[in-house]
Amino acid sequence: MEKLQIDLGEKIYPIYIGSGLLGSLREYLDTADQWVMITDENLDDLYGEPLRQAFAGKTVYKVVIIPGEESKNIDTVTEIIDYMHEIGCTRQSKLLAFGGGVVGDIAGFCASIYMRGIGYIQVPTTLLAQVDSSVGGKTGINITQGKNIMGTFYQPQGVISDVALLRTLPKREFISGLGEVVKYGIIYDYAFFQYIRAHKEKILSLEQSSIAYIIRRCCEIKARIVAQDEKENGLRKILNFGHTIGHALESITNYEKYTHGEAVWIGMYNEILLAQRAGLIKQEYFQELQDFFIDMGIHYDLPGYDTEALLDKMSKDKKNLQGKISFILPVDRGSVVEKHLTREEIRW
Ligand code: GLY
Repeated sequence: MEKLQIDLGEKIYPIYIGSGLLGSLREYLDTADQWVMITDENLDDLYGEPLRQAFAGKTVYKVVIIPGEESKNIDTVTEIIDYMHEIGCTRQSKLLAFGGGVVGDIAGFCASIYMRGIGYIQVPTTLLAQVDSSVGGKTGINITQGKNIMGTFYQPQGVISDVALLRTLPKREFISGLGEVVKYGIIYDYAFFQYIRAHKEKILSLEQSSIAYIIRRCCEIKARIVAQDEKENGLRKILNFGHTIGHALESITNYEKYTHGEAVWIGMYNEILLAQRAGLIKQEYFQELQDFFIDMGIHYDLPGYDTEALLDKMSKDKKNLQGKISFILPVDRGSVVEKHLTREEIRW
């Protein structure tokens, strides 16, 4: 088992990465008298029993939500908060998020608002959550008009990433999460991008040492970025590469057609094209990235979508400035810039 730390000065918390870590949850449970676990129906079917055994001797209340982005709304939050109040949760109670990005975002948000904030831990079960959403304390839910519009920065007390949980992850979800992995290579660490490209087959066949390495490297990079800029005033924005178009795409397709990771893959590809149209990226590097996306066989087009509808969604993005839409665009190997563009500059 490896241990990394997120060091935010007065707040420090561990990220554990390893295989078969569910047993170590018991240690955490002793830090509170009352726990509520938030999970989803799929995970409850798969892991309900092993978790019950891991929790032996402790009462852990459970809220099981419907899987998928459609649950990430205020109704789910209200249900959870009402339930917690009904069973007598106090400020000393804690939440445990057992799931992917949706579960983690909802549980973190509930932890941040219940009685003005209680402790929580993240046990991410998808690649995407293990490399990105469970780390760094972003919580939130969607509103009809856009993604993660209601939310908080609220750090967990620990993250336990069990690589063994990925064995039951559907292939589609794994490939989705890989988009966020590739993102770290493009925004921050070209050598890591080269590693992913060179180990593509091993990664896709879930070879344990490659998987453990990519999760650790992503968490290291994220820990470094979040330690410098917890509230996304500067550097942390680079983590949004692919997300301006990605979030708009998820939103206009009602969160039904694409997983978040698929939308990020498509968003990254189209933002690379945008960087080329804007003359920001070196041509040779552009070609290298394009070849990589094509080689990965990722669905990367934006076929037939209403450009104006996408632009309308993007113009509501929380990172915009003075009516211009914020993008993180690649310029060179391991290097990106933030650009604010008008609708006319973006229109394809
Ligand atoms: N998922 C982007 C961030 O945590 O900042």
